[in-house]
Amino acid sequence: PWSAERATAVIAANRHLRGALLPMLHALQEEFGCIDEEAIPLLARELNLSRADVHGVVSFYHEFRRSRPGRHTIKVCRAEACQSMNADGLIEHIRRRLKVDFHETTADDAFSLEPVFCLGNCALAPAVMVNETLHGRVSPARFDAITASTLA
Ligand code: FES
Repeated sequence: PWSAERATAVIAANRHLRGALLPMLHALQEEFGCIDEEAIPLLARELNLSRADVHGVVSFYHEFRRSRPGRHTIKVCRAEACQSMNADGLIEHIRRRLKVDFHETTADDAFSLEPVFCLGNCALAPAVMVNETLHGRVSPARFDAITASTLA
């Protein structure tokens, strides 16, 4: 869990590094599993940056997570072939069902939702990958069945 005290120590330990923001962000993510919102002002103060600057860097680099990863990762394809097979409708269903948006984790920590641009499964659009398993022609009902069996 988040601890401002530990975050401050992690930040201090990387203070001497050149371009310290990136090493600090990596170290924080390693410690906490994500970049907590509360780390932003600590970093800004330490490096004499605005909060917006720090936010900008965190969102620029896709490897930085804004919330702790869930036990399972769901990647939903947003690229063209899937779009043409109503990926948006599926995504709408997933958002409602899991009550999360992209880059977020469900309240029970079970699933993280990530967008992806082509899973190489275009012939079987819309495509979804759950952990390492690829699923094609995913309807809302199939999506529910897949997540249920992932948790079983
Ligand atoms: Fe979705 Fe290729 S466009 S798998």
